[in-house]
Amino acid sequence: MKKEMNMATNSAKEVATPTTSHSAELFARAKRVMPGGVSRNTVLWSSVPPYVAYGKGCRVTDIDGVTRIDFANNVASLIHGHAYAPIVEAASAQLALGSAFMMATEQEVLHAEHLCSRSDGFDQIRFVNSGTEAVMAALKAARAFTGRPKIAKVEGAYHGAYDYVETSQGSSPANWGAVDHPNRVPLVHGQPQSAMDDVVVIPFNDVDRSIALLNEHRGELACVLLDLMPHRVGLKPASREFVTAMREWTVKNGALLVLDEVITFRTHYGGAQQGYDIHGDLTALGKMIGGGFPVGALAGRADVMQVLNPGAAKLLFPLSGTFSANPVTMTAGRIAMEHFDQPAVARLNALGERVRNGIAQAIHRTKACASVTGGGSMFRLHMKADVPANYREAYPSADENRRLKMMLEHLFDQGFLMVGTCTGMLSTPMTEADIDALVAAMESGLRKIG
Ligand SMILES: Cc1ncc(COP(=O)(O)O)c(C=O)c1O
Repeated sequence: MKKEMNMATNSAKEVATPTTSHSAELFARAKRVMPGGVSRNTVLWSSVPPYVAYGKGCRVTDIDGVTRIDFANNVASLIHGHAYAPIVEAASAQLALGSAFMMATEQEVLHAEHLCSRSDGFDQIRFVNSGTEAVMAALKAARAFTGRPKIAKVEGAYHGAYDYVETSQGSSPANWGAVDHPNRVPLVHGQPQSAMDDVVVIPFNDVDRSIALLNEHRGELACVLLDLMPHRVGLKPASREFVTAMREWTVKNGALLVLDEVITFRTHYGGAQQGYDIHGDLTALGKMIGGGFPVGALAGRADVMQVLNPGAAKLLFPLSGTFSANPVTMTAGRIAMEHFDQPAVARLNALGERVRNGIAQAIHRTKACASVTGGGSMFRLHMKADVPANYREAYPSADENRRLKMMLEHLFDQGFLMVGTCTGMLSTPMTEADIDALVAAMESGLRKIG
């Protein structure tokens, strides 16, 4: 079998499936020592998950020697792809100086200064270790600031693994209830009812129904939590009308607007909020701001961030974390973000336009029952003729799921790695040729699958 596949030339030739798979052997061992053989469910999207040998730029090579173009980018966390030389160099230099101390480092100050300079809404910032932690800390800060217990979130939106935000993350037609009063649906068996009782579930982009639901809990809501282009809700940008309504409702009712920009921060230099001319009172960040290392952050208005100030007369929200702001993450993250400057953001968004237009045209040419959503440097393929407007519309039927899986397998065989929802996230090493190769592979997939 030919190793080091032909993808370097961007051709969309069939990638041979290895006859003996080192990944299969490794997975058999993994299943003995890890539940289901994995540490992250997201990597288990095929019966035998491929194991990585190495990545370079926008390509990854698995341990069976097959190279693919990486449109997953570790679910949007690698803005410069793999092993970006300036990050490798700076993070390695920091590693040689030590990776974790019970002392602060200049690296954290430098990264904080850089991120705060990107948005007028970021007066101050606190670093944590994941997007989950960032959202959790933002909600706790909102409760500490307002003295209120409840949070509102969009039905189907993914915000990490905190009990409250897991509510209605995976609702289905069998349990989601009436659209003007969505049920609070647990994700995890044993999820406390008490946590769910403090969550108000609102429908995406539906101003009237959302406002009516918020009004029912006015005075109890600490915040409205919003992702401006929620991936699991369909990767459709929030309407300006919806965002304005949420912003105005929170101001009027003494609640905070908490934006989850863990993924969407890549869409503008100052995050997706810049495109709506608003600021969150608090913003949760993560993924790409760690330059490939685990990270999260909570940024926002100085008066709100004061709840975290250990020097305040009364500390409202004590927050520590053993590896928070460790200098390796801070160094890698700062380099990643400094290199993702205004021209880099614009270039990647233009590639995003190219891929979305290319897929739309491929759907048109093949007359396939499919549609494409996205914005900035992200896109998602739906096996539905009409572009879904919200979580309920985006929810795939059994047949759509079957066709989506076939498409993912087709793309994988053709040398493209996607997020399991058939979503793609671009990285700066990608070229127009990489984009066009993916579009060609999608077109052949649509012809095959329909
Ligand atoms: C919008 C959003 N928020 C929060 C998270 C949680 O981030 P992490 O996986 O780093 O905990 C994710 C992860 O995919 C996300 O997409």
